[in-house]
Amino acid sequence: CNFLVERSRGEIIDTLVEGLQRLEYRGYDSTGIAIDGDQVDSTLVYKQIGKVSALKEEIAEQNPNREVTFASHCGIAHTRWATHGEPKQSNCHPQISDPHCDFVIVHNGIITNFRELKTLLLNKGYKFESDTDTECIAKLFKHLYDTNLQNGHELDFHELTKLVLLELEGSYGLLCRSSHYPDEVIATRKGSPLLIGVKSDKKLKVDFVDVEFPDDDSKPETPLGYNKVNGGLKNLNGGTVNGRKMRPYEQNGGQNNLLPIAANEFNLRHSQSRAFLSEDGTPNPVEFFLSSDASSVVKHTKKVLFLEDNDIAHIYDGEIHIHRSRREVGASMTRSIQTLEMELAQIMKGPYTHFMQKEIFEQPESTFNTMRGRTDFENNSIMLGGLKAWLPAIRRARRLIMVACGTSYHSCLATRSIFEELSEIPVCVELASDFLDRLSPVFRDDICVFVSQSGETADTMLALTYCLERGALTVGIVNSVGSSISRVTHCGVHINAGPEIGVASTKAYTSQYIALVMFALSLSDDRVSKLERRKEIIQGLKLIPEQIKEVLQLEDKIKYLCENDLKDQKSLLLLGRGYQFASALEGALKIKEISYMHSEGVLAGELKHGVLALVDENLPIIAFGTRDSLFPKVVSSIEQVTARKGHPIIICNKNDEVWENKAKSINMQTLEVPQTVDCLQGLLNIIPLQLISYWLAVNKGIDVDFPRNLAKSVTVE
Ligand code: G6P
Repeated sequence: CNFLVERSRGEIIDTLVEGLQRLEYRGYDSTGIAIDGDQVDSTLVYKQIGKVSALKEEIAEQNPNREVTFASHCGIAHTRWATHGEPKQSNCHPQISDPHCDFVIVHNGIITNFRELKTLLLNKGYKFESDTDTECIAKLFKHLYDTNLQNGHELDFHELTKLVLLELEGSYGLLCRSSHYPDEVIATRKGSPLLIGVKSDKKLKVDFVDVEFPDDDSKPETPLGYNKVNGGLKNLNGGTVNGRKMRPYEQNGGQNNLLPIAANEFNLRHSQSRAFLSEDGTPNPVEFFLSSDASSVVKHTKKVLFLEDNDIAHIYDGEIHIHRSRREVGASMTRSIQTLEMELAQIMKGPYTHFMQKEIFEQPESTFNTMRGRTDFENNSIMLGGLKAWLPAIRRARRLIMVACGTSYHSCLATRSIFEELSEIPVCVELASDFLDRLSPVFRDDICVFVSQSGETADTMLALTYCLERGALTVGIVNSVGSSISRVTHCGVHINAGPEIGVASTKAYTSQYIALVMFALSLSDDRVSKLERRKEIIQGLKLIPEQIKEVLQLEDKIKYLCENDLKDQKSLLLLGRGYQFASALEGALKIKEISYMHSEGVLAGELKHGVLALVDENLPIIAFGTRDSLFPKVVSSIEQVTARKGHPIIICNKNDEVWENKAKSINMQTLEVPQTVDCLQGLLNIIPLQLISYWLAVNKGIDVDFPRNLAKSVTVE
C-alpha cells in the first residue's frame, strides 16, 4: 500500500510480482494479484497457474495501462500451494466475493469449517466459482457487509473483519481489500505468519504500534469509524483527496459521533498508534509491504512489525491500527517495529545455479556462524545467550521432548544420543504430527524443544501450543528470526544459518545439529565427569567448517557417480547405525525430495530382518562406514550385502585400511571424508548425500529449488 507516494500501475505490478517471486519457495502451484482499476472502486484481478513467471506473461498479455499513477493504492498478491481444490485458474487467489470485487482476499492456511460456511452461503443465494475455502471468506465479508448495511450500519473495515473472523475456524494469514474501502487493507492472522514492512523517507515518530481496544466490551462493534477522527488526511464529507475517494465518515452517526471529546479521549489512549505521522504531526508519505515472509519485504525496507495471532491490522491514510479479534487476558499491548538484519544479497543465488547448491556450499560459513560468539575454543566453553537463564530449570527436568518435522526431525535424531550422554536426561524425539495425533502426555516439568528452520511449520507450531497449554517449558531451535516459534517459545537458540531458500533443507540441518550439540554441551558444563568428553567435542566442533570444505571437494567424484552408477536407478538403500542412522534417513529424504527416486534409510542392524530380501547385484546401496564404536557391526552388515552380490558405495574415513582392503577384492566404491568425534561425524557424512541428491536431480532436469508437490514452509496442518 502506498500513501502520498506517487506510484504508477506498472511499478505497483512489478513490486507485487517481484515480491511473489521471492515467496515462490514457499509453494508454487499458482499465483495472482489484485490491483486498483481505472475507476475508484474497480479492481483488476490477474491469475495464472504455474510459476510467477507465468503470471507475468498473463499480465503482459492482458496489457493493463501501466502509466496511470496513484498517490494512494493498495494491491494484494498470492502464491498458492493447494490445500483445497486442485491448481486451476478459478482456484488461484485472490478470491473474490462477486464479479464487482466488493471484497478480494488472499489467504494462507485452512478454514476447517468452510463446508458449513459454504452451505450457509449457498442457501443465501451466493454462487461459488472455486473449490477453495478462501472464497467463503470473501463471500462472508460481502454477506456481513450487505446485511449490516441493510440494517443501517456501515461498519468500519476492521469491525466488519471482526464479525467475519467470529465465523472462521482453522488457520489463516489473510489480506482483504474492498471496493467499499478504497486504499484500505486488512491484514489478520491466526496460525499463519504475517508481517508489515514500513517504508518512509521521513523519520517515524515512534518504533512501536499500540494495540487498540474499544473502551469496554459493550462498544466493540460501534460502526462509525470513531478511531479515525484525528488521524491522517480526512475529508469528513467524503469527496476526493489526491484524486481518490475518501470515505464519508459521518454516515449513519452524524456529527454526534465525531465529538472532539470522545475523539480526544480515544486518541490520547492510542496516540502511539499514529507512528507514521512526522514529528510535526502531518501525515508522512509512507508505503507498507505486507507479507508472510521478510524475504519479499527486505528489498524495500528493513523496518518490520510482526503481527501476532488474532491481530487485525487495519491500514488506511498512511497509518497502521492494530485491533484484536478477541479479548484475552495478558495479550501484549504493543507491536514493536524491528529492524531486520537480513541483507538481500544473502538471499540471492550468487554464482550458483540453484539455491540448494549455494546452500550446500555455504556450509563452511553457516556452521561457523552457528558457533560464532558462542564457543570459546580456548577454554572449552559454550555460551548460548538465549538459554543461559533457563539452564538451571532445564537441568532439573526429568525428561526432554524434541519435536520437529522433516529434516529438522532428523537433526533431533542425529543428536539425541549425545544429548542423553551429556545431560543424563532421557530424550524423546517426536514427529510433530504424530505427537499431536497421539495426544501424547506432557507434564509441567517436561522440557519441550521445537526444532524448525522456518519457525512456521504448522504441525510443529500446533505441538508447541499443545505443550504450552500443559505448562511445559518450551525451547525453540529456529533459523528464521522473528518467526512464530521463536516468538512463542520461552527461550531458545537461533541457528544463524542465514536464509535458506531451496526447498530441500541442507545448511539448516548442519546448523541445527550443531546448535543442538551446543545445547547439550551447555547442559553438562557443571559436570566434572564430562569434562574430557566436552573438551573433545568442542575441539571437534572447531574443525568442522574446514572439514566440510574438504568434503565439498568430493563434488566431481559424486557427479561422476550420479552420471554413471546411480543413473536411471529406480531405488536406493542407505544403511547406517548408531549416529549414522539419522544420516541414512536424512540422505534418503534428500534423494526422494528432489530427485524423485525412491530411497530408504535403513538401520543397518535391521537389515537381516527384512530389507536384505531386496539386495541383489543391481540395487544401489550407500552405506555409512565411518569409524566409531559400532564400526565392527557396520562392517558385518556391509558384508551381508556384498555376500548377496551387492556393490555398496561406502562413505568412510580417509585412508581406512579396512575399506581399502575390501575394495581390492570386491567391486565397491568409496567416498572418503575426514574423521571427527563420533557424535559430530554425521555433520560431515551428510554432505556427500546432499551432493548426490542435488546431482541426481540436476541430471534429470528437475527444478531443484522447487520440487513438485513440496513447499519450503508448510504452514498448513
Ligand atoms: C517441509 C520442508 C522440509 C522441512 C520441513 C520442516 O516439509 O519441505 O524441507 O524439513 O518442512 O520444516 P521446518 O521449517 O519446520 O524445519
